Amino acid sequence: PATSLQDIIAHAKEYGFVFPSSEIYDGLQAVYDYGQNGVELKNNLKTLWWKAMTQLHDNRDGGPVVGIDASIFMHPLTWKASGHVDSFNDPMIDNRDSKKRYRADQLLELKAEEYANAGDADRAQALLNEMARLLGENDLDGVRNLIIAEGIKCPVSGTDNWTEVRQFNLMFSTQVGSLAEDASLIYLRPETAQGIFVNFLNVQKTGRMKIPFGIAQIGKAFRNEIVARQFTFRMREFEQMEMQFFVRPGTEMEWYERWRDTRMKFHQALGLPAEKLKFHVHEKLAHYANAAVDIEYQFPFGFREMEGIHSRTDFDLKSHQELSRKKQQYFDNDVDPATGKPYGNYIPYVVETSVGADRLFLAVFCNAFTKETVGEGESTPGDKQKERTYLKLHPALAPIKAAVFPLVRKDGLPEKAEQIVKLLRSEFRVIMEERDAIGKRYTRQDLIGTPFCIAVDYQTIEDDTVTIRYRDTTEQIRVPISELKARIGQEVSM
Ligand code: GAP
Repeated sequence: PATSLQDIIAHAKEYGFVFPSSEIYDGLQAVYDYGQNGVELKNNLKTLWWKAMTQLHDNRDGGPVVGIDASIFMHPLTWKASGHVDSFNDPMIDNRDSKKRYRADQLLELKAEEYANAGDADRAQALLNEMARLLGENDLDGVRNLIIAEGIKCPVSGTDNWTEVRQFNLMFSTQVGSLAEDASLIYLRPETAQGIFVNFLNVQKTGRMKIPFGIAQIGKAFRNEIVARQFTFRMREFEQMEMQFFVRPGTEMEWYERWRDTRMKFHQALGLPAEKLKFHVHEKLAHYANAAVDIEYQFPFGFREMEGIHSRTDFDLKSHQELSRKKQQYFDNDVDPATGKPYGNYIPYVVETSVGADRLFLAVFCNAFTKETVGEGESTPGDKQKERTYLKLHPALAPIKAAVFPLVRKDGLPEKAEQIVKLLRSEFRVIMEERDAIGKRYTRQDLIGTPFCIAVDYQTIEDDTVTIRYRDTTEQIRVPISELKARIGQEVSM
């Protein structure tokens, strides 16, 4: 049977990957905490992304990419310049009876889904088109009329006693300074990108960067999402991994295509299968973009956006130049073959790659979650269990790379196991497990995705060999301790 999101949520909680935030107070909607295994997996994803962007990226051919770590609070004008104050909105509607608030576009999307599921794809499409037209024209009364005409009822009260549709800004705000002084309103950043734009010249000048080059950043972003369902897919506090690549105007499409393909390869290298990934090209573009594509992953609830690659033109830098009255130009002394003169001063164009660390985590976690039916004794000798659940994580992503098991807690076996842990731990995250029968210990490691289990038995004391058990095949082989580092090292690199 197909894995449901409920299976994923339950497994993530039970094995220390993701907990609901403030759970003892019954949780906080759309906010989650990563547990002892989740934080390792997420850190591995972030490290691999950082390394792929800033270290493995081809500096000469591809233009260097350097990192920054900007703050969450930014000058309020930043969000005016970026367009978030004026247009980072969702159209909301309230039901007067239940007092529940909904995103108007999502109510219509659900209705379209209903038509599609009933086999009327044309009607579904027509409804989506009409909705897009009305939202495009900001005709909020039209959106409300459409909801009523479609007979959409509140899922809680069952009535269609709807209020008007209002735009609701998704940014969280707070105050800086004490109330006595003139405290001013500031926002929690809804994307990390603007921290990069406002630092463009700082990095360019201090790093003596030549265009094309990129700036990468990993950090928290906040959005007051109204319909926050689907686990870590849509959160109110989440983490983005973004990179802005600054290019000469006119060359942006070439870079856009390159980054689109590079990013797709990254996801495949993490072990996400090609058939569960696809591009979704945006036909309707945001005001700042001249091309945009999403990389979608097939989550248990369907193909959804995981990463966006956008050609953002000079929209952001130009806008910051206007509001800050500080030039955001670059002097390009390369010679333009068409004129024989340097390209001179311009505001660079930007190609952005933006992926949510939590969405990538969810994709990787869903993909790894495996339930297999195995014959008696196939999983581990003597093991009667019929169904085996394990996380088939790429070894590079696994929270723990190897678990060392002394067969018994006596006769020098734990001491030998401890020596192996000490030998490996400077390079890999390794643990020792002494409790329970060995079959149970294997099962526990399977459930958190540990790719290698190393068993220390009486033969180890005699000849310095151990057995390695491979998580995916459950195959066991006997190897000298001296080979462990190389064998594991080979598999955990990407
Ligand atoms: N700077 C461009 C930008 O922020 P976006 O499409 O709004 O673009 C980029 O967000 C990525 O951030 C998304 O593809 C998604 O992976 C992640 N993301 C956005 N909102 C999110 C949320 N509420 N919860 C988790 N991840 C989110």
